[in-house]
Amino acid sequence: GSVVPFFGAHQAGITTPAQDRLHFAAFRMLSGTTRDDLVALLQEWTTAAASLTSGRSIGTGSEPDNALLPPDDTGEAEGLHAAHLTLTFGVGRALFDPRDGIDDPYGIRARLPQAFEPLPSFAFDLLEPDQSDGDLCVQACADDPQVAVHAIRNLARIAAGSAHLVWSQLGFGRTSSTTRAQDTPRNLFGFKDGTANVMSEEREALDEFVWAGSEAPAWMNGGSYLVARKIQMTIETWDRASLGEQERIIGRTKLAGGPLSGGDEFAAADFTAADAVDTASPAIDMASHLRLAHPTNNAGVRLLRRGYNYVDGSNTLGQLGAGLFFISYQRDPAAFVRVQRSLKSDLLNEYIRHIGSGLWAVPRGVRRGEYLAQALFE
Ligand code: HEM
Repeated sequence: GSVVPFFGAHQAGITTPAQDRLHFAAFRMLSGTTRDDLVALLQEWTTAAASLTSGRSIGTGSEPDNALLPPDDTGEAEGLHAAHLTLTFGVGRALFDPRDGIDDPYGIRARLPQAFEPLPSFAFDLLEPDQSDGDLCVQACADDPQVAVHAIRNLARIAAGSAHLVWSQLGFGRTSSTTRAQDTPRNLFGFKDGTANVMSEEREALDEFVWAGSEAPAWMNGGSYLVARKIQMTIETWDRASLGEQERIIGRTKLAGGPLSGGDEFAAADFTAADAVDTASPAIDMASHLRLAHPTNNAGVRLLRRGYNYVDGSNTLGQLGAGLFFISYQRDPAAFVRVQRSLKSDLLNEYIRHIGSGLWAVPRGVRRGEYLAQALFE
């Protein structure tokens, strides 16, 4: 009962009910690698991913006949089952660019989708190159952290000789729901996160906002674009802000998560409503996160958010290295750009910093007998 099918029209791990844990990894193709190396890697990853996501060990397993060789599978997920593991793979924009003096090293330039433009830089960006970008990405989500880590570890092992892991991120708590059957979780500011997300039940919205369609080349028709943003949260400062101030910044109440214009968590925000005390002011602040991120402020755009809380230890000032590993899926990266630009005046900006970033094209799902992104090479 804990298996999410790997094969299908779309890759798993997007509309799949958001699991509890994340291990996200970015890889770089080694210099001098060729189209054949890339295809071989994607083929091996496909085989491994099909095994891993069904809770089986890789290849001949962790205890093969020949004790003189290292086992195919590293073994730490033995007995843990699939734990709803999903592995979602993406292709970076840099793979289409010249490298090492070769104009089109992987022979895929002709398949570059028009929409696949690198992200621009945004106000307040403080991006660190060692946690940004990558030729390939793998989003491993599972209900057991060891299962997610085991998957990334073994995919990295398989990649040896053609690609290496350049950075990775662990996430310990989901910050969104992707189905109405899930309770809304909370981010590290203590607010419910994911209330107004695009849900897997919203078939039409998925086609409109999440899945690339016939405008995209065949390998991306049914795919999506993954944006990852590592967002540091200065939680110690946040914790000194009054409750009223915190709620004003988000535009929602803290405990119930309803919009400040009134109503329960799922009530529609009324941006025209006046504040009950100061009737000259709007109930939902002009610079609140809710107002600025809302579709009415973004030409109707919606994103499917699928991020995770993270804490990377602490610093010498006794502050936690806490934040949100933001992930969103959209049919066109321009949708993310639109919303992120709107957030320039967000009151939240005083408490957050974007320190990592990446954009990947997530090919349509893999059919049985195919390998990942096969249509990119046809
Ligand atoms: C909504 C928190 C960054 C886009 C929300 C909500 C919270 C929240 C509490 C309200 C509940 C909900 O509907 O999910 C945060 C925090 C962030 C962050 C703490 C940074 C650490 C971002 C970024 C984007 C974004 C970078 C996209 C560029 C949205 C959208 C909504 C939303 C589209 C839904 C608005 C609506 O339709 O009502 N966020 N967010 N958020 N956020 Fe964020």
